[in-house]
Amino acid sequence: MADLDLRRLVPAHVRSFESYRPSNPDRELMRLYGVDHLHRLNNNENALGPPPAVREAVESFPSGVVTVYPNGDCFDLRHSLAGRFGKDPERFLVGNGSCEVIASVIKAFCGEGDNIVTADRTFAVYEWVAEFSGIKARLIPLRDMAFDPRGMLDAMDERTKILFVCNPNNPTGTYWDRATMDAFLDEVDGRAVVVIDEAYFEYVDREDYPDGMALMERHPNVIVFRTFSKMYALAALRVGYLCGSAAVVDMVRRTHVVYSVNTLAQRCAEAALRDDAPFIAATRTMVREARERLCPMFDAMGLEYIANEGNYLMVRVPMPDTLMYRKLMREGIMVRTMTGFRFPNWIRVSLVQGPVMEDFCRAFRRVLDKTA
Ligand SMILES: Cc1ncc(COP(=O)(O)O)c(C=O)c1O
Repeated sequence: MADLDLRRLVPAHVRSFESYRPSNPDRELMRLYGVDHLHRLNNNENALGPPPAVREAVESFPSGVVTVYPNGDCFDLRHSLAGRFGKDPERFLVGNGSCEVIASVIKAFCGEGDNIVTADRTFAVYEWVAEFSGIKARLIPLRDMAFDPRGMLDAMDERTKILFVCNPNNPTGTYWDRATMDAFLDEVDGRAVVVIDEAYFEYVDREDYPDGMALMERHPNVIVFRTFSKMYALAALRVGYLCGSAAVVDMVRRTHVVYSVNTLAQRCAEAALRDDAPFIAATRTMVREARERLCPMFDAMGLEYIANEGNYLMVRVPMPDTLMYRKLMREGIMVRTMTGFRFPNWIRVSLVQGPVMEDFCRAFRRVLDKTA
């Protein structure tokens, strides 16, 4: 039998792409590190969730429904979103996590020779999807840990199809205020699509934080991404969505995989939107208290940290981040190493309930004491 000639069959941009390896399941990790518990502080999940209405939706889910294909274009969920945001349901597109809608948008707007513009130290999936699709990603350095509007505008050319702005940014938590966003959109002036990724929207409680859902009414080139993974704690069910002008969404829909969001996920996402205010308030309080617990410890230890918006913060540790990760894993704490985000020697920590944060603080001090 002849060998498969993958050099010939696979395009160069795919061959040179390094695949992302997600972490192993808890039981494997616990066995590997010899611990009997594991706090996952690596993925910015909401440890408080899911909201009570979601629990009911899960418990009352009829098993007979699994035989039937899901609502292929998330009809009911799109109508719920439309009601929530006061927009036409046709302006929403739901995906298997917002990661899937990133791919749909790039497929819709970018062809060979086109490029996208984003930051060099942000959520890496924009860059990854572009590159494994053969599209150039222009990565603009952060300025004061925030997206640099001038740098992004200067990087634009006539082949720039999409500018991705992560607001607030994962992992630095910085955000563009309304004036910065307005000025940026005015200067882009419809020459390219601007994706505003608001994955952490519901965590931000700031007067000057711009709401992409309102901005898009003045700027038809704006597409907003939101997700049920972060605030609504449905990460396992994979539901994210985009909203934009009817004409833009019509184009993206052409490239989007239908039936990718399963029935349970759709029902849970709808339930999550029902009476969500108390849940959001409780989660914000939890995150604020966690931030207030961790920052003074880092101050006392003389460690540099970045703690802004979102349910996460970053701290620079006095050893390689991978070593810190392994030492914390032996204490039953899983954090995110940040070399992959181009922050070598930094770790990112999700902000969760008090007792877990106490465990993190104890483990963190123990690890650093041992290395002192
Ligand atoms: C900024 C940002 N956007 C999008 C996502 C993707 O979320 P999901 O695919 O779970 O909806 C994440 C997840 O970490 C994120 O941090």
